[in-house]
Amino acid sequence: MSLGLTKTKTNGVPAASNGSSIIHMDAIRKVYDTGKVKVEALKGIDLAIGNGEFVAIVGPSGSGKSTLMNLIGCLDTPTDGRYELAGEHVSDLTRDQLADIRNRRVGFIFQNFNLLPHISASENVEMPMLFGGLPVRERRERARTLLEAVGLGDRTEHKPTELSGGQMQRVAIARALAMEPAILLADEPTGNLDSSSGGDIMTLFNDLWNQGRTLVIITHDQALATRASRIVEIHDGRITRDERQ
Ligand SMILES: Nc1ncnc2c1ncn2[C@@H]1O[C@H](COP(=O)(O)OP(=O)(O)OP(=O)(O)O)[C@@H](O)[C@H]1O
Ligand SMILES: [Mg+2]
Repeated sequence: MSLGLTKTKTNGVPAASNGSSIIHMDAIRKVYDTGKVKVEALKGIDLAIGNGEFVAIVGPSGSGKSTLMNLIGCLDTPTDGRYELAGEHVSDLTRDQLADIRNRRVGFIFQNFNLLPHISASENVEMPMLFGGLPVRERRERARTLLEAVGLGDRTEHKPTELSGGQMQRVAIARALAMEPAILLADEPTGNLDSSSGGDIMTLFNDLWNQGRTLVIITHDQALATRASRIVEIHDGRITRDERQ
């Protein structure tokens, strides 16, 4: 199965060791202020992730994993600290610039797939390319290639409701790859899947990593975490373990 449209892995060494980090966070804090209570969800995160790493983020419920992922993916901004994504200072950007960097740099995969229910698998995959301004023919062709690469070449015209959970997640992965993002972010990607479809998704992530992609995956799934090249553990808004394996 070939999922790398243009990228190839040049070596098996985590790129953090050659100095080219794609994510660079310094003393990141995130405080949610809902009026009555303030929640300090992240209490000073220092994290550098290199090109080509496969990082699993683990930790108990409420420890700040999704908050961290939202910051990494520019869905939200930190209260304090500095964040560089692919060499750009995210903290200084406007909302429009953030939306643009998100569409170009980040591919998201969620536990509940987040597909649009009334349009086909192909149209779902085309969506980021539509926002990215790609011409219609290129969008169609790329969507087909990506869906074939995730094993759904015969389901391109199916709507999400006509697909299984595992197939929906594969559509979501194809969509996440559409803009050739620098990084793929997944929040509990196997959380809603049975163990067999979860296993297929894990294999897909492994293939993507072997092709040189950078993956950051939040998971409670020990089997998925052990496939990663690095495990970062969070407790109560702080990194308590960071190990390459
Ligand atoms: N939008 C929000 N407004 C206020 N508080 C929030 C918000 N989002 C998260 N929190 C709080 O921030 C803390 C971290 O939440 P977060 O969702 O990052 O945890 P998590 O590690 O992803 O948990 P889980 O494993 O259950 O998904 C929690 O105490 C949560 O209640
Ligand atoms: Mg979460």
